[in-house]
Amino acid sequence: MGILKKVYNWIDVRIGAGELVEKELTGYLLPRNINVWYSMGSILLCVLTLQIITGCLLLIYYVPDAEKAYQSVNTIMNQVPFGWLIRYCHAVGSNMMVMVLLCHMLSVLFMGSYKRPREMNWLSGFTLFNLVLLICLTGYLLPWSQLSFWATTVATNSMGSIPYVGDYMVEFLRGGKLVGPTTLGRFFALHAAVLPIVIAAVVGLHLFILQRVGISTPPFGRDETRITWKGESYAYESHAGGIPFFPNYLLQDLTSISIYFAIFMAVVFFDPYIFYPETSFMPADRLQTPAHIKPEWYFLANYQALKIFPSEFLGIMVQAAAMTFLALLPFIDRSPERHPLKRPLFLALAIGGILLWIALGIWGHYS
Ligand code: HEM
Repeated sequence: MGILKKVYNWIDVRIGAGELVEKELTGYLLPRNINVWYSMGSILLCVLTLQIITGCLLLIYYVPDAEKAYQSVNTIMNQVPFGWLIRYCHAVGSNMMVMVLLCHMLSVLFMGSYKRPREMNWLSGFTLFNLVLLICLTGYLLPWSQLSFWATTVATNSMGSIPYVGDYMVEFLRGGKLVGPTTLGRFFALHAAVLPIVIAAVVGLHLFILQRVGISTPPFGRDETRITWKGESYAYESHAGGIPFFPNYLLQDLTSISIYFAIFMAVVFFDPYIFYPETSFMPADRLQTPAHIKPEWYFLANYQALKIFPSEFLGIMVQAAAMTFLALLPFIDRSPERHPLKRPLFLALAIGGILLWIALGIWGHYS
């Protein structure tokens, strides 16, 4: 008996490894018509892990002090061996994470997997969506460049339009009347400590819920099935006759993950600057407002929406209403039908919403 087999047997006798493998890997079955969109969650898990690793490496040389932050990022880029690679991976990774997050959300929307009994998958996911956007926003300030400084000034300013509590909220976020060293301290604490821990906890909850409910059956392709679960008692959606997670599905998943990383590395090596406007190469200067300050692409629609309403407060309220609608979608859209082409109202609203978001973003970019 080989040494590996002996070690395996030793562990198996003590913790029942064989039973665990049978239950969670080879015996864990997935729907036979599972498609590539179901890999978005696994890609997100890999991206999140890479963000944590590259973030920890950046922490070794980054200095969260308004006097030294910009210079410390310069040192990472120009002096620390492979520092540039780690920084580009972190920055490109954050942008691509938002893209994959949007794909994951869209696939869940179009395949109707947010519907009963998966309302809790949706709610925990929606919380993650907001937390990820918040971690991106707080990270933007850390290089202490002109872009960081002014984008944060604009983002925090909009809060001020909320009656009564607005000014207090702006001051609370900034740690003073203006964006300054105290803001950097707050954002750094949120970005490098609080948010990663909260996100990790919510991801754990998201996966726990997924494991309890079972993965949904795609509403099209081979084995098309409709939701049959109507009862009030708990039921796990198993997939008798489906494909085993290990090795079959894992290989399929790893293929999607590899394709994602091929695209990611191509951007990191060939054009990381698509995510860096010119103002990100100038140190923050509170006395000089740059001519063009734009938020990152995923906030452009929100930025433009704030500008087109007669008051910023109205703009904030309309956006808050849209987000609340999205959060509560499983409780509003209650029909059991999941096939996108058999949900014309949903399809029209979803496509209309996506086009509006893109149009506002393009308008925001060129305005
Ligand atoms: C850091 C962010 C996230 C991670 C790491 C993550 C991870 C995952 C994973 C691994 C799965 C199982 C495989 C799959 O369907 O892709 C999943 C399923 C799911 N996720 Fe997420 N997710 C995240 C964000 C979100 C967001 C933003 C939403 C929606 C607002 C969401 C809603 C769902 C739903 C409804 C399912 C169940 C899908 C089904 O059973 O068909 N997730 N997630």
